[in-house]
Amino acid sequence: MKKGLFITFEGVDGCGKTTQIKLLDNYLRQNGYKTLLTREPGAIGLGEKLRDILLNYDGEVSSKCESFLFLADRAQHVDCIIKPAIEKGVIVLCDRHTDSTIAYQGYGRGVDIESLKYLNSLATGDLKPDLTIVFDVDIETSAQRVGKQKDRMESAGIEFFKRVRNGFLEIAKQEPERVKVINSVQAIESIHYEVLEKVKNGLE
Ligand code: TYD
Repeated sequence: MKKGLFITFEGVDGCGKTTQIKLLDNYLRQNGYKTLLTREPGAIGLGEKLRDILLNYDGEVSSKCESFLFLADRAQHVDCIIKPAIEKGVIVLCDRHTDSTIAYQGYGRGVDIESLKYLNSLATGDLKPDLTIVFDVDIETSAQRVGKQKDRMESAGIEFFKRVRNGFLEIAKQEPERVKVINSVQAIESIHYEVLEKVKNGLE
């Protein structure tokens, strides 16, 4: 039986990936593909509760605890939602996944990156995206798009987001086959066109 595809969308807050993932989902559906649009943290069920803690809890959260909560959400998401869909031949589009943990908790918060890579592979059972697109924007654009209403993660400050952005670019350098970067300070249609080009290579 034909296996599905697993595509992840990554980037700093306000990079526009959520708009782009919806456009790609519409395009694929209109062209007859079965898709599943999902996200991390917090797809459905237990994940929604973890998302609420991660984004809204206003007490102290240690960086290690934060890492384990994102990883716990990921383990549940992969086992209960992503893997079963891929096995049915569905194209899974996931808004954030393993690279967010490396960029935010690793590069951003300073948690040991090699340990996070190990924990990511434990959480996913070694499932790897077929394609990852990083939507790259400068930090000023990111801050403007996020605006004044910030959740717990978005309140981390400009130096943090510089490290996170650099983290995503570093990941792309290390894994150029899997991870493609798109400049996201462009018109929505132009970015969508670049996304389609990259995804079409994977569909052939
Ligand atoms: P969300 O509202 O989904 O933001 P966005 O629309 O930008 O994706 O919030 C997710 C937040 O969680 C975002 O700030 C990135 C952060 N995050 C991590 O720090 N580590 C992770 O492993 C994941 C999946 C997300």
